[in-house]
Amino acid sequence: YIDQPGTINNETCTRDAWEVASGQLIINDHEKLGSGAFCVVFKGRLEGKAPVCKIQPGVVTQCFENCEVAVKKLPEYADSSAKEDFVQEIDFMKRIGYHPHLISILGCIIGPHLDSCLIIEYCCNGDLLKYIRKRRLEIVEPVVDEETALRFKDLLSFAWQISDAMDFLSSKGYIHRDVAARNVLVNERKVAKIGDFGLCRLMDSTTYTTRGGRLPIKWMALESLQDYEYTTKSDVWSFGVLLYELFSLGAAPYSWLQPVDMIAYLRSGKRLDKPEHCADNVYSIMQECWKDKPDERPFFSDLKMEFSTLLSCAT
Ligand code: ADE
Repeated sequence: YIDQPGTINNETCTRDAWEVASGQLIINDHEKLGSGAFCVVFKGRLEGKAPVCKIQPGVVTQCFENCEVAVKKLPEYADSSAKEDFVQEIDFMKRIGYHPHLISILGCIIGPHLDSCLIIEYCCNGDLLKYIRKRRLEIVEPVVDEETALRFKDLLSFAWQISDAMDFLSSKGYIHRDVAARNVLVNERKVAKIGDFGLCRLMDSTTYTTRGGRLPIKWMALESLQDYEYTTKSDVWSFGVLLYELFSLGAAPYSWLQPVDMIAYLRSGKRLDKPEHCADNVYSIMQECWKDKPDERPFFSDLKMEFSTLLSCAT
């Protein structure tokens, strides 16, 4: 598909096949789905077909048409580095292609400056962190509603789905750099999808600098904290922290530590403790992800296999 600036009537233009006519999109300004320091997500509705339906005819994807969507925009006060990140995020989503456990881009509107918006699939259960926190009580005391109740098997399934998405991303040479439960969305069928690619970069795009307050310190591998070194294996470390969030049903990692004390804590060899009720074999997987030496950590393909095995044994 076309995702490069193209030419229409010999004029170079930035419009592309992903662009949605503004009349097709209704944004509900009153229904904010989320907001960070650097973006706002609103609920919206797409009238007619999403461009993805038109331009990937041979690929089996869900067709999005007359449906609820999420619309990501930059706030008015966004600085130039936030704008640059947003453009990169849109660009990344156009390129990556369909995967069942990555949020799909449905289209975008490229407006002048800040009016650009990214239209993505809507996940009615919101982010994974809030989703599991809400179900803390239900897992201890099973609820009546079988469909919505969260079971140990669901947690394993989420872990498998996310490792599957990360295996796909890493096989294409991408480093996510912000793997965390808050960045995973859950749809109506308990399907987990990685939903934020704001920090995602190709492996060969060299050095990364710290941009004040934007780093997910408690999810970062020791080498990323010390030397700003990011690899697939630092994503594996963050995935281990995501497992901790998942199997503690939403505990905040290192809640007793100030971010500035993280390096010393990890350098002394200390790691997060096993969450209450967490199975030993699942905790062993987390510990593998937090090995000092990146090379000793598993690959996402290994993690995917381990969770697949655990899932097949779970009831
Ligand atoms: N919050 C952020 N993105 C979202 C999405 N795509 N669906 C639902 N809630 C969201």
